[in-house]
Amino acid sequence: MRIGLAADNGNWHKARLKAALEHLGAEPVLFSLADVAIETGGREPLRVPGFPDALPDGVLLRTVAGGTFEATTMRLGVLHALVASGTTVWNSPASIERSVDKAMTSLLIDRAGLPTPDTFVCSKREAAAAIVAREAGPGRPLVLKPLFGSQGEGLQLIETPDDLPGEDAVSRVYYLQRYVARSDGLWRDYRVFVCEGRAIAGMIREGDGWITNVHRGGRPLPWAMPAAAAERAEAAAAAVGVDYTGVDLVEDGQGGFLVLEVNSMPAWSGLQKVTEVDIALAVARGFLAAVRAARPPRLVSALG
Ligand SMILES: Nc1ncnc2c1ncn2[C@@H]1O[C@H](COP(=O)(O)OP(=O)(O)O)[C@@H](O)[C@H]1O
Ligand SMILES: [Mg+2]
Repeated sequence: MRIGLAADNGNWHKARLKAALEHLGAEPVLFSLADVAIETGGREPLRVPGFPDALPDGVLLRTVAGGTFEATTMRLGVLHALVASGTTVWNSPASIERSVDKAMTSLLIDRAGLPTPDTFVCSKREAAAAIVAREAGPGRPLVLKPLFGSQGEGLQLIETPDDLPGEDAVSRVYYLQRYVARSDGLWRDYRVFVCEGRAIAGMIREGDGWITNVHRGGRPLPWAMPAAAAERAEAAAAAVGVDYTGVDLVEDGQGGFLVLEVNSMPAWSGLQKVTEVDIALAVARGFLAAVRAARPPRLVSALG
């Protein structure tokens, strides 16, 4: 099997995935999506480094590096072209698009009937101001998040319309979500890692403030994950259609869990510190099984 491992950054994760794939008998070729080219007017126009003769059977994607709108569009186009030519891509570009766009994730989570904090998305500052005037107030904030945000960056609490930044500062999309107060005064929420439809590991994240991302100093703590949390995360992964994912959950104050986020390019170095489950191995195993299942069966002559 021709296997590619596309990872633009994050050496720890890259090394873990490579080792896991090799442990399972694959020989992954590491490449960067930024080095894929298109050349028309001859053989196959998609040129993937390390695959000069035939496109890979499977590509395991750790990250799509951030870039300009143009660069990101091209990289996603490359992934779509791989899928169209029969390559198994984990996560699929369609699911990456759905999960990177927080608005689309919220829509899909809601349509699937899963509880998530009330969320409002609009483009104009005037519309956002009307939503804030209606839904927020002193002590009752909304969270403003960058549509493509990650690692807890750029989040802001909004209580009054005057708190809203201008349209350019939010790249012309206001994503506003009801702030979920945490009842016990601890800044905790939960991360569940789902692979192949199953919640395989989870942790508590404890922060010094309301944003608990490990990248922002949140501390991973071991968690005896309740079945209700596992089921909710599995349903959220299915709603977005991701093959492997980190789902963020927060307590609803009544013993249940709200879905905050579904990540199609999750990091798991924090989680790996507090779980026995080998996350990279689970991802590699699921991915290789999917590649195998997608390949046409080898025909063996009955006459030998
Ligand atoms: N609606 C909310 N209410 C309370 N805390 C929130 C809310 N949304 C996000 N947070 C906090 O901010 C963190 C980052 O938000 P998240 O939606 O996961 O975006 P990111 O992609 O940046 O991780 C969450 O893990 C949580 O700690
Ligand atoms: Mg998150």
